Amino acid sequence: MHVVGGSASTALAERISRELGNVPFAFPFMKRFPDGEMYVRVGGRMEGEDAVVVQSTRSDENLMELLLLEDAVREAGAKRVFVVIPYFGYARQDRSFFPGEPVSARTLVRHVEIGADAVITVDLHSHQTLESFTKPAFEASGIPAIARLLRERNVDVLVSPDRGGVDRVRRMAEILDRPWFALEKKRIDSEHVELTIPNNLPISLDGTHAVILDDVISTGGTIVEAARLIRRQHVSTVVAACTHGLFLRDAFERIKAVATGLYSTDTLDNPAEKASVAPDIAQILRDAGARA
Ligand code: R5P
Repeated sequence: MHVVGGSASTALAERISRELGNVPFAFPFMKRFPDGEMYVRVGGRMEGEDAVVVQSTRSDENLMELLLLEDAVREAGAKRVFVVIPYFGYARQDRSFFPGEPVSARTLVRHVEIGADAVITVDLHSHQTLESFTKPAFEASGIPAIARLLRERNVDVLVSPDRGGVDRVRRMAEILDRPWFALEKKRIDSEHVELTIPNNLPISLDGTHAVILDDVISTGGTIVEAARLIRRQHVSTVVAACTHGLFLRDAFERIKAVATGLYSTDTLDNPAEKASVAPDIAQILRDAGARA
């Protein structure tokens, strides 16, 4: 087996190759042609072997690189291609909200699966997207990775910033054996939200260590508002944790100003990366039959 790390996921790809028993790891050569088109090349032959291509699709450029890498490993002789997309971009446009809009998530699925025998991703925005795949598709969760980290820290209560995150926070609460609750969220626009605290809290928040858990932090609007609201309940500390840390513009600094701690997994390179999903992805690859 060969693990190939695209430019958006080099460090995670290397961790996955270690988890799989130090299988050969490569990062491709990449350059631009004079007209701006992308060129990639993977070193070595993969005749009859399994190849694992790891690349988050945070940008359109990352997506183009992924498509080229899928073909490159096939040209290098790979028999089966396992495509790992730790952060699956465009996943939030999972339906046509207004007439004339595309279902962007489904469009990406159609393209990335062309060169793949199986696709593995992490905490997709909606399970519906997983169902759009015609090839075997698997979803890892960022919860075990964050739980491994939180086990080492003081946690009294877990908070979801919206009802959409209830399953996630409930699962974490079960692992850590702690109470949880969800805030009510009303989105004002793409950067602003209005949050309210429910009346029937499972415990008094006074003096507690609270952790707000989200799947993705993008502009930081949700987490900043949630942290402010929780702090007003006189908690001792409030930590924010997410699977995918996009941290657009000054999101990182704005969150650090209101939260005691900020943790994300390594599905995207960012300064809050503290927990790795590599063991969870490696396990799914083994279960899916990828052979070292
Ligand atoms: C929403 O459904 C997601 O779970 C996140 O809460 C949201 O995408 C975070 O975005 P932002 O950081 O821009 O508030």
